[in-house]
Amino acid sequence: YSLKNLNTFGVAASCRWFVEINEEGDLQELFSDPQWLSVPRLVLGGGSNILFTQDFDGLLIKINIPGINYVENGDDLFVTAGAGVIWNDFVNYCVDHGFAGVENLSLIPGSVGASPIQNIGAYGVEIKDVLHSCEAFEIKTRETRHFTNEDCQFGYRDSIFKSRVKGQYIITAVTYRLSRRSAINTSYGAIAQELGNRGIAHPTISDISNIVSAIRVSKLPDPSTIGNAGSFFKNPVIEVDKFRQLQSAFPDIVHFSVSDGMEKLSAGWLIEKIGWKGVKINETGTWKNQALVLVNYGNASGIDVYNLSAAIIQDVEKHFGITLEREVNVF
Ligand code: EPU
Repeated sequence: YSLKNLNTFGVAASCRWFVEINEEGDLQELFSDPQWLSVPRLVLGGGSNILFTQDFDGLLIKINIPGINYVENGDDLFVTAGAGVIWNDFVNYCVDHGFAGVENLSLIPGSVGASPIQNIGAYGVEIKDVLHSCEAFEIKTRETRHFTNEDCQFGYRDSIFKSRVKGQYIITAVTYRLSRRSAINTSYGAIAQELGNRGIAHPTISDISNIVSAIRVSKLPDPSTIGNAGSFFKNPVIEVDKFRQLQSAFPDIVHFSVSDGMEKLSAGWLIEKIGWKGVKINETGTWKNQALVLVNYGNASGIDVYNLSAAIIQDVEKHFGITLEREVNVF
């Protein structure tokens, strides 16, 4: 079964078995047959955070569970979406209904079910700020378990689903806690700047959504025309002592304080600084407006993209003594 149209990098790969899940009952049915417990499995939502470097000799589970509904409690809204809902459709639904909280996360590719796994985030907001709970099917017991926000153990692009219980659960639905009273978040410099440019003094959530979408379109390649999976690497978080040394060698280094004693650097800046921005090698390269994004110009293989990422990691290490970690899942 070809996976080329199921990964936003658009690289060629195939899997041995393929199944689509439209409701939770489909998971019950699937795993009541013990043969599927013993084969390698991979769960796919929008395929927007994965790089296939080889064919998959296992079962690929594509989650399509639909549906959005909500419960009101005063100004609060508990909005539940099926794991298969396209993330940006969910954002648009919320913006259209006047439900505030996810507008900064407009236009992120992928699905609702993937949003907690890597704690997606952009423009000053992360899923951990708005996630109330999620439902996940435990493969071994075939029971559905409820995870609260705290249970998810969120970190920067991280959660329990990427660490301690990796591969054991399949997220079926997510509930977000949103609000009718919009607490507009313009902490991200580029949003404030664009509000100024547009002369908007009192932005609505729809203004924020439009601005975030415009910023993304200007910086990031559209995966439907140029294959990519957003940021390929995580922004490194390093100790302040190490940061000070780097800053004296590179006074213009881009950084953000994250906690006592730790600084987050911009991986895009590091990559650009050593000459890797907008580089094109055959069918792959780094994006001209955002060096953190690796792209497939059409016919790159997963291995080509992987090799480029390895060359960048090595060069960043050589110049800055920092080892970049991949944010995209490499299979
Ligand atoms: N920068 C450069 N050169 C570049 C790219 C960035 O110098 O080529 C510097 C600039 O100073 C810029 C700063 O880095 O102002 C930050 O860049 P940007 O706003 O594009 O954000 P980022 O840190 O590169 C992160 C997320 C993105 C998210 C943006 C906006 C990670 C790994 N990436 O990127 O998330 O959209 O912030 O909040 O944390 C993703 O995870 O796939 C993703 C796209």
